[in-house]
Amino acid sequence: MSAPAGSSGDHSSAEHSPSPEHSLSPEQHNREFWDDDADDYQAAHGAALRRTPDAWGVWRVPEADVRVLGDVAGLDVLEYGCGAAQWSIALAGQRARVVGLDQSTSQLAHAAKLAHAARASADAGRALPLVCASGTQSPFAAASFDLVFCDHGVMSFCDPDATLPEVARLLRPGGRLVFSHTTPWPYVTYRHRTDRATRRLRRSYFGRREWAEADGTVDFVLTMGEWVRAFRAAGFVIDDLVELRAPKGATTTFGWDAGWARRWPAEQIWLLRLG
Ligand SMILES: C[S@@+](CC[C@H](N)C(=O)[O-])C[C@H]1O[C@@H](n2cnc3c(N)ncnc32)[C@H](O)[C@@H]1O
Repeated sequence: MSAPAGSSGDHSSAEHSPSPEHSLSPEQHNREFWDDDADDYQAAHGAALRRTPDAWGVWRVPEADVRVLGDVAGLDVLEYGCGAAQWSIALAGQRARVVGLDQSTSQLAHAAKLAHAARASADAGRALPLVCASGTQSPFAAASFDLVFCDHGVMSFCDPDATLPEVARLLRPGGRLVFSHTTPWPYVTYRHRTDRATRRLRRSYFGRREWAEADGTVDFVLTMGEWVRAFRAAGFVIDDLVELRAPKGATTTFGWDAGWARRWPAEQIWLLRLG
């Protein structure tokens, strides 16, 4: 997941340069990050993600509880930043026609292994095409999908001024975009020394879009108003915003503080529809 106090690097330079490698765009930087980190990431989190494949965020809140995707049977679905495609495999098993897109060849190598194993198993669903491309430059024809979704995927790592028009292009009229990401609150309260979100506001909520880490990802974190205006500018209508709360007694492989995430929203899911 992309977040402070997550698994992937720390936020030691969160107040510093927008991009750790000035010669690289955020997209290139994130591709290098995920290609380098994929094996460690899957070793740390893969088992939990496989155990709860159709569930959201670091606490793996079940889709069956929040019901933000609904019935996907018969839909053309794009997972937008699929990682090892645990989610996509689960939805293919629910008779969706799913495509998994990711720009990291290392993450997709894990996805290909899992997809192959799923197909070989008794409860195999449909074939799962995996596409290596950046979410900002996908190879799909316009109006190819009924649903585009991600769980801490492309929408966390790319400028929404690029992704939202691209998703609007990919969706059929009335199609839906559903995505989870980290709220601004862990970022603005994050303390590097303890690698944790805290109870103190330490950074400004305003004036940034890119939050960069010295040895982690570049994340796009907008204010709530900026998100709403970006959605509307790309032609989306907001159906809902589901703030995820850590369930009682929750644990996670991502190193987040469950007590914090029971009191404040650390992750949220936007439900959008093409107007
Ligand atoms: C935290 S993982 C999310 C995947 C899965 N839901 C999980 O929890 O592991 C983030 C994924 O987004 C992908 N990603 C980041 N930027 C991307 C981009 N511009 N285009 C496509 N995929 C991207 C990364 O390669 C990585 O596999």
